[in-house]
Formats: sequence, structure tokens, C-alpha cells
Amino acid sequence: MARLLVVHHTPSPTTQSMLESVLEGAHNDEIEGVEVVVRAALTASSPDLLRADAVVLGTPANIGYMSGALKKFFDETYYPCMADTAGLPYALYVHGNSDTTGAVRAVESIAKGMSWTQHRPPVTVTGELTAADREALWELGAVTALAALGDSVTP
Ligand SMILES: Cc1cc2nc3c(=O)[nH]c(=O)nc-3n(C[C@H](O)[C@H](O)[C@H](O)COP(=O)(O)O)c2cc1C
Repeated sequence: MARLLVVHHTPSPTTQSMLESVLEGAHNDEIEGVEVVVRAALTASSPDLLRADAVVLGTPANIGYMSGALKKFFDETYYPCMADTAGLPYALYVHGNSDTTGAVRAVESIAKGMSWTQHRPPVTVTGELTAADREALWELGAVTALAALGDSVTP
């Protein structure tokens, strides 16, 4: 069984809706053979990451950066997991009230340092979620679950 790890910081109803859309996509009936493991960023660990075949990261933008919770996840996993997760497919979603640029840049920089492969552009949302945002998040979950199986889907 392939494993998709979803590491998220979800402090509000809007970010909860984003997470749910991602999980609906990851769990959709057309994908078989993928276990979806969901971890709050404050509890996600190196063993979770080492067992993953693909990762979805979700965070709010906080003071122009990723959340402290997601940063803690990277602080704890960066060196222990760097060698064994090189090439890991990952995808990212970010919510902010005005500007998600710094948060995206921060996550992409760390993921690049770990030699992960972003197989899909990040989904970023400012303010209220639209139907199109929910669809993009659903697709992000679905294609990253497929990536865990080793299937590549063109963005
Ligand atoms: C301490 C703090 C810092 C924040 N900094 C930013 C920021 O730099 N950019 C931004 O777009 N939103 C920022 N926000 C807003 C959060 O991203 C937003 O509250 C979160 O995505 C949840 O959205 P919601 O409250 O509309 O559900 C900040 C929120 C907090 C609490």
C-alpha cells in the first residue's frame, strides 16, 4: 500500500474547509492502493515522513511566512529525513488574508533544500474560498495521491 502523508496546520474554519477538499480528492473512488495519513503539523514526526511516498503540506500565511507549526515540523525532520526523502513528490496549499507569497517561498525553499519534487503548482487562497479553489484543492489531493503510487500527472 502506498502512503500519502498530509501535514497541515488548521487554525480556522476556512483552513479546515481547504483540508477537507484536499482529503476528498485524495480519497476519491478512482484511486486505489493509497493510504492517506493525516497529521497536524505539531504532531507529525520523522517516522511519519520516512514512511510517506508523497506529501501534501497545508499552512496559513503567518507574518509573511509559513505557520510556526509547519516550521516546527521541518525543524524536527529536516536533517533526520533529508537523505531518505530526496525526490519525494510534494504539493502545497496556503491560505492568507492578504498575501501568501512569503509562506510559499519559505516552504519551497525548505523543500528544495530537502531535494523534494513539487509536482504541482501550489494552491494559494486569500480570503473566502471559492468553488474554483475547492476544485483546485480537490485536484491537489487527488494528483498527490496518484504521485504516491508513482503516477505522474501533468499540472
Ligand atoms: C499572527 C498572524 C499573522 C498573520 N500573517 C498573515 C500574513 O502575513 N499574510 C496573510 O495573508 N495573512 C496573515 N494572517 C492571516 C492568516 O493567514 C489567516 O488567519 C489564516 O489563513 C486563517 O484564515 P481565516 O481566519 O480567514 O480562516 C495572519 C494571521 C495571524 C494570526
